[in-house]
Amino acid sequence: MSMVYRPRRLRATSGIRNMVRETALTPDNLVYPIFVVPGTKVKKEISSLPGNYHLSPDMAVELAREVYALGIPAVLVFGLPEYKDERGSSAWDMKSPVQQAILAIKKAVPELVVISDVCLCQYTDHGHCGLLNGHKVDNDPTLPLLAAVALSHAKAGADMVAPSDMMDGRVAAIRTGLDAGGYSDVSIMSYAAKYASAYYGPFRAAADSAPQFGDRRAYQMDPANSREALKEVALDIEEGADLVIVKPALAYLDIVRQVKDRFLLPVVAYNVSGEYAMVKAAAAQGLIDEQRLVMETLLGMRRAGADIIITYHALDAVRWL
Ligand code: PBG
Ligand code: ZN
Repeated sequence: MSMVYRPRRLRATSGIRNMVRETALTPDNLVYPIFVVPGTKVKKEISSLPGNYHLSPDMAVELAREVYALGIPAVLVFGLPEYKDERGSSAWDMKSPVQQAILAIKKAVPELVVISDVCLCQYTDHGHCGLLNGHKVDNDPTLPLLAAVALSHAKAGADMVAPSDMMDGRVAAIRTGLDAGGYSDVSIMSYAAKYASAYYGPFRAAADSAPQFGDRRAYQMDPANSREALKEVALDIEEGADLVIVKPALAYLDIVRQVKDRFLLPVVAYNVSGEYAMVKAAAAQGLIDEQRLVMETLLGMRRAGADIIITYHALDAVRWL
């Protein structure tokens, strides 16, 4: 039988499949998140994120060396502080674990790109991402604090700061603060479209950052909205964002694609803790082939338009590439 179109011709051998493959995943696309805690010689597996560790700054350096040796260009640093208070003051304390880890990593592995998460929720005793006024998170008074956090990270040597708080106007406040402090070369990777998501559960256990009352729906985005995400991205770009994050990734790949099509800057997908933990749980039960599933998932994020993927699978993925 004669058939003009036979798409299977281009799937017949691995050589042909390699030639016509449209999307690739390389180590350069990945960012590995790390969790820094007080102390020395601490390396303790995080139960909610198996295969990831709470690391003291000295041990974070060891991991940073490993990340760099694997060809992953960047880490995203989260901190668990020594103390918490109403204002989250340990967030801009140069003696806190994040600042110490950034200093130590940049000294030991200067070529590794260090990105720091900028927020207050790990540092406030109430667990919200900004200052409280009663039970409300108060936007404008929070902005100078976020700028101070970003500046402390820049002073420690961060290459990029990543505000994840979702206050309005924080990118502009951070850009102004960095420039005034002499850090005009430090980039802002903004969590521009960050949704109020159930997928953050394992992270909040790992970072001890769950809100002590209420939830984050009055500042993070409604999962039902996509046009609003484009507005958030547009505003962050106007305010000076250099890269924009869509978060979570899997349930929001339509947002990744729309941001990619509409804007001219690198798009980052955050493959968040709940997405990771689901894969690990299914793999532990023998329900899925973890390696294939992870590679398919990360490739899907690339195909949706992600230039960069922040993922807890980064080390495994690179070993599997
Ligand atoms: C803090 C922050 C969160 C994540 C990154 N930064 C949690 C939250 O907003 O409650 C989530 C990361 C993940 O789930 O992997 N603002
Ligand atoms: Zn936060």
